[in-house]
Amino acid sequence: MTEILRLEGLTKLYKGKEGLKRAVDNVSFTVNKGEIFGLLGPNGAGKTSTIKCICGLLKFEEGEIFIKDNSIKENRSKGLRHISAVLEGNRNIYWRMTVSENLNFFAGINGLSKRSIANRMAYLLEAFQLTEERNKIVNHLSRGMKQKVAIAISLITDKDIILLDEPTLGLDVGMSQEMRIILRKIAKEEGKTILLSTHDMKVVEETCDRLVIINKGKVVAYDTMENLKKLFNQLIYRIVLDKNLTPKARSELKHYINSDINEEEVELRLSLQSPNELFGILSLLQQEALGLLALDRLNMSFEEIFMNLIREAEGDEISI
Ligand SMILES: Nc1ncnc2c1ncn2[C@@H]1O[C@H](COP(=O)(O)OP(=O)(O)OP(=O)(O)O)[C@@H](O)[C@H]1O
Ligand SMILES: [Mg+2]
Repeated sequence: MTEILRLEGLTKLYKGKEGLKRAVDNVSFTVNKGEIFGLLGPNGAGKTSTIKCICGLLKFEEGEIFIKDNSIKENRSKGLRHISAVLEGNRNIYWRMTVSENLNFFAGINGLSKRSIANRMAYLLEAFQLTEERNKIVNHLSRGMKQKVAIAISLITDKDIILLDEPTLGLDVGMSQEMRIILRKIAKEEGKTILLSTHDMKVVEETCDRLVIINKGKVVAYDTMENLKKLFNQLIYRIVLDKNLTPKARSELKHYINSDINEEEVELRLSLQSPNELFGILSLLQQEALGLLALDRLNMSFEEIFMNLIREAEGDEISI
């Protein structure tokens, strides 16, 4: 795998009322060519700040960013040549021009020939299902359409790395799904590398190959989507009983039972260290004359995994 983007200890400080705030705090990760890399975290985690540092819109205090081995600090323009970005508010669009005029304009200022502009524009209009809208003024389009146009513009110049800050923000279910398909298509068919920030767990699950989760500027997790899922998927079991737990069973199972389960529930969620623990649990249930209606292993949604990681990180901070 070829590394295309690398952050080493990126630190971004903002001046606030209470002195300097570390909005991005020693963040390191690498992104490989052709992958979709997710940048996740709660509000204020530092995602937009990180993206702005990578595309050269923000200066940073510590650390380094390498784009195709070019240090942004040492040779800013050489690295940035490979990047295009769509940030919040779609500032890369001219609202009073049509879709085609926008695409033409941005391709032109980036020095593409007329012929290659025409080919690429046709490809993108088709891929984004914007062919019918091509002669409409951008301002007259819906929000979702505008978002598609913004991303199409970021692709017209054929840069290797596309940075997208919350590409599905505010899109309806259908448009969000269409956007996820487009993102995968761009990465697969065009070999583009996409770094995106998002709060949308569907985007994460369906598009990201690897991801980094940040909280309060710090990295909380950095792994493949697959591994992060495995991390929490393993040993959560759902047990449905024919009646409520007896006091003895409740006290013996106490440390397995997930705390957020209602005491009255006949359905329990147990988290185990090893599947072998099921033997003891089942024989206890039998001794207590509790009937077993169902037993399954649960697949946690990525949203639950995400919340767990954030909670764990917050817990760590308190214990320091
Ligand atoms: N220009 C600024 N001046 C001072 N503080 C800022 C500035 N921009 C961002 N911040 C602060 O830096 C932190 C990180 O902000 P950032 O916008 O990068 O977070 P984010 O992860 O993109 O959040 P969201 O999910 O809400 O978009 C926040 O605490 C924010 O208040
Ligand atoms: Mg943001």
